[in-house]
Amino acid sequence: MTDAIPFFDIHAQYKQLASEIHAALQPIFDNSQYSGGSEVERFETEYAKYCGVDHAVGVNSGTSALHLALLAAGVGPGDEVITTPMTFVATVAAIEYCGATPVYVDCEPATWNIDPSKIAAVITPRTKAIIPVHLHGRLVDMKSLIDVARPANLVVIEDAAQAHGAQRDGRAAGAWGTIGCFSFYPSKNLGAYGEAGALTTGDSELAQRARLLRSWGSEKRYEHKLKGFNYRMDGLQAAVLRVKLRHLASWNAARQNLADRYAAQLTGLNLDLPAPAEVGSHVYHVFAIRTPKRDALAAWLNEKGIGTSIHYPVPVHLQPAYRTSRYQEGAFPVCERVSQELLSLPLFPEMDPSMVDRVCDAIKSFFARG
Ligand SMILES: Cc1ncc(COP(=O)(O)O)c(C=O)c1O
Repeated sequence: MTDAIPFFDIHAQYKQLASEIHAALQPIFDNSQYSGGSEVERFETEYAKYCGVDHAVGVNSGTSALHLALLAAGVGPGDEVITTPMTFVATVAAIEYCGATPVYVDCEPATWNIDPSKIAAVITPRTKAIIPVHLHGRLVDMKSLIDVARPANLVVIEDAAQAHGAQRDGRAAGAWGTIGCFSFYPSKNLGAYGEAGALTTGDSELAQRARLLRSWGSEKRYEHKLKGFNYRMDGLQAAVLRVKLRHLASWNAARQNLADRYAAQLTGLNLDLPAPAEVGSHVYHVFAIRTPKRDALAAWLNEKGIGTSIHYPVPVHLQPAYRTSRYQEGAFPVCERVSQELLSLPLFPEMDPSMVDRVCDAIKSFFARG
């Protein structure tokens, strides 16, 4: 029996980096800066530079980054925030944490990202912000989106949780909007060894407000200028992220090569591949294919020891916890259909190309069966 192919192998990366990581952690134990501290500040400087923005604010998760971005931008009760239902629930949860109302726009059939041409129709006098989500690591068509957002004076908050390092026209994810939000959840393209996240922005006032909010609204001990949160980044996570940031470009390149290898071998089968992307604009956090036979294909691959996943099987407006009377089933036909047909294949930078070939052979044998 040939070896199983996991959907994701988080340990493979650690094995390659172990000595670098251990060396980077030691200073934190020596200086005891476990919450915030100089290592977090260094990571913020390096990550801001990586994204091509003036400020990065390290926090304890991508969800916290979204929450603080919305609060720093002044979003509150009564406001509407436009986003896509084709996302992880955190995008929508953050809107609701602020007391604002999520307003959804369907996704594009080819990219599965929010469809900028459908945004204008849902803007009302209460619309305050828009959160495009760079799904699976592919940049949203930000030029078209900003063309709609700017005349309506909307704050653009990128949910770049899956798109570290994705670029278009020389501009990185997190540098297009007023604010960018990143997750460093362990399985992300840039992943911590625990929970972490960051906001990026070119606006120093927003950055300052986010810094205050992440630490109980306080710059000086026991003096609270704002009602804030305990959303600080751990020193240990910053040390891990600083090591990993040095490898991110090569990991993203490896992901792109593996995606190209999948695409070359799966072309011509009765399935949809991710639409071609401008070089660098898709960092393949996920490589998803689309077929109405998704569930049977997933079962077939599973029998052969090949792991798969689905991003996402249920759009947010149909999730039990997020259903409202405003949106019934059928409200977003593209997104709803896509959620029933997408299948994410194994893809991680340490994957040997021969594993991609084996996955492709298994997929070909599924379709050859008829
Ligand atoms: C699109 C998207 N937004 C937000 C988040 C939330 O990030 P975190 O898990 O770090 O809170 C995630 C994480 O999975 C995500 O994929």
